Amino acid sequence: MSLPIDPEHRLPSDFVWGVATSAFQIEGAAHDDGKGESIWDVFCRQSGAIADGSDASVACDHVHRLDEDLDLIASLGVDAYRFSISWPRVQPQGWGPWSEEGLGFYDRLVDGLLARGIQPFATLYHWDLPQVLQTQGGWVARDTVHRFVDYARGVQRRLGDRLASIATHNEPWVIATLGHELGIFAPGQKSRAAAAQVSHHLLLSHGLALQALRADGATAPLGIVLNMSPQDPATPDPADQALAHLQDGRGLRWYMDPLLRGRYPEDVWADLGRDAPRMEPTDLAAIAQPLDWLGVNYYTRNVSSSAGPWDPAAHGLPVTDMGWEICPDSFHALLTRLHSDYALPPTYITENGGAFPDPVQADGLVHDHDRIDYLRTHIAAVVRAAQEGVPLAGYFVWSLMDNFEWASGYAKRFGIVHVDYATLARTPKASARAYRDALTRWRAGA
Ligand code: NOJ
Repeated sequence: MSLPIDPEHRLPSDFVWGVATSAFQIEGAAHDDGKGESIWDVFCRQSGAIADGSDASVACDHVHRLDEDLDLIASLGVDAYRFSISWPRVQPQGWGPWSEEGLGFYDRLVDGLLARGIQPFATLYHWDLPQVLQTQGGWVARDTVHRFVDYARGVQRRLGDRLASIATHNEPWVIATLGHELGIFAPGQKSRAAAAQVSHHLLLSHGLALQALRADGATAPLGIVLNMSPQDPATPDPADQALAHLQDGRGLRWYMDPLLRGRYPEDVWADLGRDAPRMEPTDLAAIAQPLDWLGVNYYTRNVSSSAGPWDPAAHGLPVTDMGWEICPDSFHALLTRLHSDYALPPTYITENGGAFPDPVQADGLVHDHDRIDYLRTHIAAVVRAAQEGVPLAGYFVWSLMDNFEWASGYAKRFGIVHVDYATLARTPKASARAYRDALTRWRAGA
């Protein structure tokens, strides 16, 4: 099966094709070289927090297998690799002294990518807050905003001249809502007010970091990555429509409006009532710094039903191993809607992909045709949106390799490369070959 990446689709010739990972999910080496603990190291030790009782102290052992993994990335023929920097690996306490060993690891990663002709797309924060900062209030505390800005400046000082892109945060909705309202992700808090305050502090830290990095002479384009799921009402019933609109406000407009319009959406603010975040008069202007680019992570749509949670499988809809509906049309609809509602900067699909069971078959290979089909239909949605004028600049598959899927542990596999967790052997799946072959064809015609 081939992927529909075709020069006739007239994507920009500098369109970036990549693969993505994050530090906590692949690195392991959790206690190496003076690395500090992160809130996820601590969260994994809580009984029942991780579905399979696992943790990420070894994960894919990426830190110790860096050269092998760099060669693996290069073998895919991608233009770019999106990774995140572990804050407690480079600044163990979240403030003060830096770890030379930690910074040295990212030096080698970035230099190894550049030596192989691959653009380094770095994310500063993909959820692994230094635990020391959590003991001082974590993202609920305004002081963490300033700690993050200092961290961002330190990373830029060391790596900035060699990075092709810097993202401040990955998926602030997930950090705020799953981590602080629902308590199913680290740090496991359950307070709507805390979650709202965290979302504001994440946005503020993004804006202040952009200001500081630019004042320091940043050369890498600066952006932020948001997760987005269109919210469809289950029925035309006004109650379902109203719920879908509010959920869209909580998930999408709550982040996009302050970033691109300098204000929070009034309906969501009103719904929060006494739980609305506290802010200072200059905060909104600080958040709305011009973005060099925007990152969109898309996996599925959501359906809002006032009758209770909606289960797509129970409605006979196709789902991935996460139980998430496979819905490429919603991806296309999301991208065109963003383009009509906002003045989008160049926009990257910073994550898209699917978890599937992926057994290794008798021939020793993983014939993941379900993943190939997912990627084929979703890339087609991206190409269609680009042809219709959405300013799309790149696409990254989630993920380079199977890894630690947060509260799901190792049971859910998103990689286009299989990882055998007993031996840590990496085996490219059929989807890896399909992606590489499609990129080769696209380049030959571009
Ligand atoms: C988005 C997150 O950024 C990533 O860490 C996670 O593994 C994928 N979604 C899949 O759930």
